[in-house]
Amino acid sequence: MSDAKINGETVRDDFNAINTVLHYTRAAHFIGLWKSEVALIERYFPSKDARLLEAGCGAGRVAVGLWHQGYRNVTAFDFASELVEQAQNLAQEQGITDLTFLQADATRLDECNVIRYTSFDGALFMFNGLMQIPGRESRREAMRSLQQVCRPGSHFIFTTHDREDPKDLKEWVKEAERWARGEQNPRLLEFGDRYFSDDTGNTFMHLPTRAEVLEDMAATGWSHVHDATRNELASETPKVRNFSDNCRFWVARKN
Ligand SMILES: C[S@@+](CC[C@H](N)C(=O)[O-])C[C@H]1O[C@@H](n2cnc3c(N)ncnc32)[C@H](O)[C@@H]1O
Repeated sequence: MSDAKINGETVRDDFNAINTVLHYTRAAHFIGLWKSEVALIERYFPSKDARLLEAGCGAGRVAVGLWHQGYRNVTAFDFASELVEQAQNLAQEQGITDLTFLQADATRLDECNVIRYTSFDGALFMFNGLMQIPGRESRREAMRSLQQVCRPGSHFIFTTHDREDPKDLKEWVKEAERWARGEQNPRLLEFGDRYFSDDTGNTFMHLPTRAEVLEDMAATGWSHVHDATRNELASETPKVRNFSDNCRFWVARKN
């Protein structure tokens, strides 16, 4: 197996793989918005006329959910073409004609004219998509690009896993020892990265510390407004809990 470092292309190919596409398509069809997502969306995007930009939309779970909540000005994008196609199909099946789905890379938004020449009232990067960008500088590039296309005062909601979650502490101590000995998975870029496979395909995920997220916000023109774990925000249905672990929601505001 190659020891080449994971990059954006690796992640995009993993998301375009058939099992992964099926997984996110099922979520878009059968799970929809989580209660925790609805709570934060209603709080930070109170106007249904808000022009919202959803990054990493996958097969449309959040964008179509937003439409059903009454938001009629949503532009959603993903860099995995197979998922964008599924999102478009889902909207079409439901007779939704006023949702825009685009193929674009969050780290290269300047290449997408539709997005770069629009001023948005808010942005979302849900279900840990931001943390699936390999390399801290690239994650910052995505945060910076989203900041640039939002008007001042806009909110940005995203989620991460918590590297400081007490239940994972022992595992991270072991991982730190592996890094100290140079025995970590050679494909990883930074401490906090994970790359694993299961029946839904391969997943790259960076798990940040709290300090790291706050530094990244400050470095990219966002101010911290609020953060809370999903379990603190809502009691999700078993269907949602089976689909995804607990995570931390972050809300930032454009300076
Ligand atoms: C965990 S999935 C979530 C999909 C969808 N938002 C949902 O909640 O079902 C993360 C998504 O982020 C997308 N993604 C990751 N890096 C990206 C990038 N640089 N630009 C655009 N999309 C990206 C992936 O293709 C994937 O669809």
